[in-house]
Amino acid sequence: MRSPTSINPDKMGCQLLWVFVILTLITIGEGRRSIGGACNPNDLKGLRSFKAGIRSDSSGRLAKWVGPSCCKWEGIYCDNTTGRVTEINLPGFFTLDGAPFQSSMEGWLSPSITLLTSLEVIDLSGLIYLTGNIPPSIGFRLPKLRKLSLFSNRLSGPVPETIGKLSKLEEIYLHENNLSGSLPSSLGNLRNLKRLDLHSNRFSGAIPDSITDLTNLVSLDLHANSLTHRIPEKIGNLQVLEELDLSNNSLCGRIPVSITNLTAISALYLDTNHLEGEIPFPSSSGQMPSLGFLRLHANLLTGRIPAAFGYLTSLQRVSLSNNKLEGPIPSSLGKLSSLTELYLNGNQLSGQIPGSIHQLSALLILSISHNMIQGPLPYEMSSLQDLQTIDLSFNRLNISSIPKWLIGLRSLSRIYLAGCGLRGEIPEYLQSTQISLQELDLSANHLTGSIPEWLGSFTQLYSLNLSGNSLVSELPTSITNFGYLDNTFSRGIQQIGKGVQSGIQYLNLSHNSLKGRLPTSIGQLVSMQSLDLSYNELGSDLPVSLANASSLETLKLQKNRFTGRIPDGFLKLGKLQELNLSDNLLVGKIPFGSPLSDFPKSSFIGNRGLCGKPLGSCKA
Ligand SMILES: *[C@@H]1O[C@H](CO)[C@@H](O)[C@H](O)[C@H]1NC(C)=O
Ligand SMILES: *[C@@H]1O[C@H](CO)[C@@H](O)[C@H](O)[C@H]1NC(C)=O
Ligand SMILES: *[C@@H]1O[C@H](CO)[C@@H](O)[C@H](O)[C@H]1NC(C)=O
Ligand SMILES: *[C@@H]1O[C@H](CO)[C@@H](O)[C@H](O)[C@H]1NC(C)=O
Ligand SMILES: *[C@@H]1O[C@H](CO)[C@@H](O)[C@H](O)[C@H]1NC(C)=O
Ligand SMILES: *[C@@H]1O[C@H](CO)[C@@H](O)[C@H](O)[C@H]1NC(C)=O
Ligand SMILES: *[C@@H]1O[C@H](CO)[C@@H](O)[C@H](O)[C@H]1NC(C)=O
Ligand SMILES: *[C@@H]1O[C@H](CO)[C@@H](O)[C@H](O)[C@H]1NC(C)=O
Ligand SMILES: *[C@@H]1O[C@H](CO)[C@@H](O)[C@H](O)[C@H]1NC(C)=O
Repeated sequence: MRSPTSINPDKMGCQLLWVFVILTLITIGEGRRSIGGACNPNDLKGLRSFKAGIRSDSSGRLAKWVGPSCCKWEGIYCDNTTGRVTEINLPGFFTLDGAPFQSSMEGWLSPSITLLTSLEVIDLSGLIYLTGNIPPSIGFRLPKLRKLSLFSNRLSGPVPETIGKLSKLEEIYLHENNLSGSLPSSLGNLRNLKRLDLHSNRFSGAIPDSITDLTNLVSLDLHANSLTHRIPEKIGNLQVLEELDLSNNSLCGRIPVSITNLTAISALYLDTNHLEGEIPFPSSSGQMPSLGFLRLHANLLTGRIPAAFGYLTSLQRVSLSNNKLEGPIPSSLGKLSSLTELYLNGNQLSGQIPGSIHQLSALLILSISHNMIQGPLPYEMSSLQDLQTIDLSFNRLNISSIPKWLIGLRSLSRIYLAGCGLRGEIPEYLQSTQISLQELDLSANHLTGSIPEWLGSFTQLYSLNLSGNSLVSELPTSITNFGYLDNTFSRGIQQIGKGVQSGIQYLNLSHNSLKGRLPTSIGQLVSMQSLDLSYNELGSDLPVSLANASSLETLKLQKNRFTGRIPDGFLKLGKLQELNLSDNLLVGKIPFGSPLSDFPKSSFIGNRGLCGKPLGSCKA
């Protein structure tokens, strides 16, 4: 037996037990306040691998990931009972000391992230330079995942088929990456999914039919991919869907009739695809009662705008432009009392504008250009007192003159009446209007007479298009007044760095019979981006001051009678992208250097005596 001096084994057992109990208590204690404790070895390994994959982190958050207490690390959240990591929350865009801060991480997404098997939330969005794939093991290892947010990175490869096993997933944000391949049909298994955003990737193939099983889906955004085939026939099953964006793909076939069953839909964007057939909705009142934003433009849709269109009484913005729609504009449109923007341009619509249009009292923008609409314009339009933009260009209106009521619309600032059959002089009554005109396009009409001096009094005007008429005068010096008051003002502001743009930016007086010289003051048009005076009879030397119009990107002076040399100062026009001086009477050496020497020969040909790059060298 044991000597009495020896330690009583029972007693020792007892002591050991105590040590054990104390240790256990400490461990449990640590578990409880797990945010302080050493974390689960798998979690630690996974996080360290993630950190090892990142070469640089401009936010400095990962640099503070030291030691074994990962639950204390920035962006990491643990379950306070199990001690397991439940969230990785490291978005590139976050608030730092109350101010928004955009950071980035360079490196790749380590697949070891799936070692963190208790993860519920992964937010590694907006890190900009994060590369790598979505690890296929995600489906086996992260059964608790509720939110997967990896948007605005540089991830590539497919969305793994295993994603369909993550039955708790509620939100998937993978947009703005470089992901490719076809969409896994297993997506249809994610019955708890509320938001799926895959826009701006390179996904191809069909939208899986199984997507219509996602009956809890509130928003679905697949825009700007390369998806083909038809829209799933049963899309109408998505009863709680509020936003559907399938725009800018290569979808074809008809818009499914079931779409009328999307009772919760508020934004429907199917534009910029190859959809054909008729617009299948609405067929009766009460359908799609919340639809506020509808974009069907840039497709191949045919037939008429449904007569029942007026039942979509929540509509605020509608774009049906650039399709092959025909027939009249339905008068039921007048029931859309919330409508603020209506784009019907680029179709084959005919008939007159319905008088009911005056009921659209909230309308701000009306674009009907490039159709076959006939005149006269209904006088009822004069009650559209909030209208800011009207574009009626290129129809069969033949309205002869700008209606007086039109320029009485107090909110109007952008008027497009190109190709509307306007004739006679630019009417004097335009001078007395109260509206502050910003854009005026009266091109491709039959206007005669001169460009009136008083046009210069529209100091807000930044775009004027009078090209393709029969105007004959000299250029009024007042054209350099456009935005003049603003100009002197804004120059002061620009110096303090606000960069306010004002003054005329686009001036197109081409294809007229304008005579005389360019006023020297033209160099004051420092905001001018595009000046087209081509196809006129303008003469004189090119003013040296034009070199001061430093915003010029487009300068078209071809087919005139300009004389003398090209001023050396033109080399200062550093923003110039388009230049045409051909078919004039210019002489001498083309000033050598960028940007002038970079233009093709055809920018300078047909002059009396120009030489030097890009034309042939000058004789000594
Ligand atoms: C654990 O966290 C939950 C919420 O996340 C909190 O309500 C609870 O009080 C915490 N328990 C302990 C012991 O800290
Ligand atoms: C996208 O991935 C392809 C290969 O799949 C690659 O060629 C391309 O450079 C990537 N684009 C970007 C912007 O990373
Ligand atoms: C469509 O998406 C492509 C990228 O896929 C983008 O470059 C393009 O600007 C988009 N077009 C429109 C009309 O949104
Ligand atoms: C719309 O839904 C109703 C009932 O939910 C159903 O009977 C009908 O077939 C659906 N219509 C279409 C075109 O899917
Ligand atoms: C346009 O109207 C004018 C009269 O205002 C008329 O002389 C001309 O024939 C009409 N043109 C067309 C194509 O209807
Ligand atoms: C001016 O009108 C012509 C003819 O209508 C058009 O081609 C051009 O794009 C218009 N806009 C500008 C800024 O010149
Ligand atoms: C100016 O209008 C003409 C049509 O008259 C058009 O061909 C030209 O492209 C327009 N210029 C610019 C710079 O848009
Ligand atoms: C160009 O602008 C500068 C500074 O505004 C002015 O001093 C100069 O006289 C102008 N040049 C011409 C030729 O108008
Ligand atoms: C410049 O205008 C002429 C017509 O005078 C045309 O033949 C030529 O292609 C144009 N060049 C460029 C670069 O636009």
